[in-house]
Amino acid sequence: MREIARGWRADACAIGLVPTMGALHAGHMSLVEAACRENDRVVVSVFVNPIQFGAGEDLGRYPRSPEHDLAMLRAAGVDAIYKPSVTDMYPPGSSTRVNVHGITDILEGAARPGHFEGVATVVTKLFAATSPDRAYFGQKDAQQVAVVKRLAADIDLGVEIRVCPTVREADGLALSSRNAYLDAAERQAAVCLSRALGLAAEAYGRGERNPARLQAILSEAIEAEPLARLEYAEVVDPATFAAGGSLAVLAILIGKTRLIDNHDLKLPYPG
Ligand code: PAJ
Repeated sequence: MREIARGWRADACAIGLVPTMGALHAGHMSLVEAACRENDRVVVSVFVNPIQFGAGEDLGRYPRSPEHDLAMLRAAGVDAIYKPSVTDMYPPGSSTRVNVHGITDILEGAARPGHFEGVATVVTKLFAATSPDRAYFGQKDAQQVAVVKRLAADIDLGVEIRVCPTVREADGLALSSRNAYLDAAERQAAVCLSRALGLAAEAYGRGERNPARLQAILSEAIEAEPLARLEYAEVVDPATFAAGGSLAVLAILIGKTRLIDNHDLKLPYPG
């Protein structure tokens, strides 16, 4: 991969990287399309990163669709697909981990200890392998965006972090590989996430700025759905995730499936 990227650099090509864990859907493909518009060469990495999954999490059953992914990426016209194996990435003896402090202790970081360490480590390695000018991430994983931006700035990686809007189903559910875990009733129930965000955005639009009130609107909308269990509902600053900004962030459990979503309440709610 590094050799290919070196060749591109020698030809003065701008390189775009889209890191993914595969099981590609229209959300991923929106990042790929943005990368293709803005760069001369695009590489998409497909790697289910074991070190960002917790002990009781879904690493073993994480959806995989290699043929489908290949067909989608070929059709999109990407220049390379980087698919390292687990031992390529973490050979025996590998013991270095990248940690972004502070922001990784709260919300997703608190719920999933070690998760962001795994993300920051693999993203650093993917950047090292592909030397991108720009790397593309989805707003869907808002805290991941904040962690990666902090990482890129703090260790002077010289990579521009580009953030693409969340792609949603017609009823508002954010596309996610984990939606495949939901049965029909759970799938219907999952719409409570976007409904909650819509209600909070509406209140914000009417002038509501009290974080406790906005959080109550979010949690009440989740609690109204019998199949859903609220993990957190907060209104935070999008860069630091400290309380009191305009980014509403939600995590819920539906059955065994954990789903997250977010929305900047300053923006009109899409759908
Ligand atoms: P993965 O869940 O495969 O997501 C890859 C990228 O697609 C992430 O930047 C994610 O935010 C974005 N994405 C997912 N669903 C989206 C949607 N509905 N709309 C827009 N973008 C969406 O996130 C990861 O993989 C991993 O943590 C990774 C960054 C690859 C590191 O292992």
